[in-house]
Amino acid sequence: MNVLIIGSGGREHAITWKIKQSPLCEKIYVAPGNGGTKEIAINLDINVKDFSAVRKAVVDYEIGLVVVGPEEPLVNGMVDDLKTNEETKGVLVIGPAQAAAKLEGSKEFSKDFMTKYGVPTAKAKTFDSSNIREGYQFLEELKPPYVLKADGLAAGKGVLITEDLSEAKANLDDLILNKRFGDASARVLIEEFLSGIELSVFVLTDGKDFVVLPEAKDYKRIGEGDEGPNTGGMGAVSPVIFADKQFMNKVVEKVIKPTVKGIESEGMDYCGFIFFGLMNNSGEPEVIEYNVRMGDPETEVVMPRIKSDLLEVLIAAAEGRLNEVKLELEPFTATTVVMVSGGYPGDYEKGREISFKKDVKGSIPFHAGTAIKNDTLVTNGGRVIAVTGLGKNMGEALNRSYSGVDLIEWEGKNYRKDIGFDLQRLGQ
Ligand code: AMP
Ligand code: GLY
Repeated sequence: MNVLIIGSGGREHAITWKIKQSPLCEKIYVAPGNGGTKEIAINLDINVKDFSAVRKAVVDYEIGLVVVGPEEPLVNGMVDDLKTNEETKGVLVIGPAQAAAKLEGSKEFSKDFMTKYGVPTAKAKTFDSSNIREGYQFLEELKPPYVLKADGLAAGKGVLITEDLSEAKANLDDLILNKRFGDASARVLIEEFLSGIELSVFVLTDGKDFVVLPEAKDYKRIGEGDEGPNTGGMGAVSPVIFADKQFMNKVVEKVIKPTVKGIESEGMDYCGFIFFGLMNNSGEPEVIEYNVRMGDPETEVVMPRIKSDLLEVLIAAAEGRLNEVKLELEPFTATTVVMVSGGYPGDYEKGREISFKKDVKGSIPFHAGTAIKNDTLVTNGGRVIAVTGLGKNMGEALNRSYSGVDLIEWEGKNYRKDIGFDLQRLGQ
């Protein structure tokens, strides 16, 4: 079968890498892809915002299965487009339809969904310009820290947390009145602060059944010790020591099952990944957010830990046969360290030449923001390369990740040297 992956990040490189190992995989295409996917697949230089161009690629390259990586095309209805147009109707697709992608596309929608189906989450109220004064009052009734969330997609930057009441009110003004994230922040949720330690849990669902993928922990802040501004993710580890059998059973019973039941009850067309952003609050899972796709950089540690043939599993999901699948996992630990451009997550330059001092053996460099220009590999984004290491424990895996990092150079490269620090403290 020929496969098409939509996206250009480390997540898509890792998914491509895993699917390519399947004996069922004939040709594998990535649109638009990056410098790393170009080495193992065929990059298609098409604008993925143009759904007709995507459809044309599906027909021209005789694609049997499409995997939509990022949230934006999902929220914009790429899956509906593929499934309803005559020329692509039969293609298998991994990714929810637009109405279901609202579980990520609107935080108000997902909060209502969680409340309706009894999924544990922070209490919240939504405000807009018509009742912003009630928003100030609501903040006054809450205890700090104050959590404000833009309702719509804001590239991972839509959550503002502060201890200070007047700053929280100013943030509310900035989001709603100054339209900090445009229409995405026209409506804002003010929600209860959840305390605990975070982790990411992933499932693949066909809308009725699900398989649980390896869990992971990611490191969102730019600075060591989880300091400084948020980024797309600076590293990840899988497995996570506190996600033991007892905790994961609770996640399955209290979070995953009611969510999948809700998806089925609402008649949502959902065949794809669900990413649960969770807080472990003294052993109890609470949902911070849903994402309707895999996480990045979590995918770079999740994929290597899947032993089963991923393409076979994805085909079963797309054909509504996930109840027949038992997912086999690898027992080892995977870590990834994200190498970023100098200045990221603020302004940074692109186009710096990347050199590999020698062949990076013993670790897997998943490309995120790279491109090949005039036969030279160059930086092409904030997050540039995620170096994944595998080992019998986290220390060994991290050694391999950091050995890989040392072999990759460009002017201004930056990375966190403490990935896994909090798990180490917990004994991992
Ligand atoms: P999100 O964009 O929803 O993933 O939120 C970004 C980050 O904000 C999360 O990873 C959490 O660290 C934090 N966060 C979001 N909501 C809450 C909450 N209710 N309580 C505590 N932290 C939160
Ligand atoms: N690593 C967080 C995300 O993919 O949203």
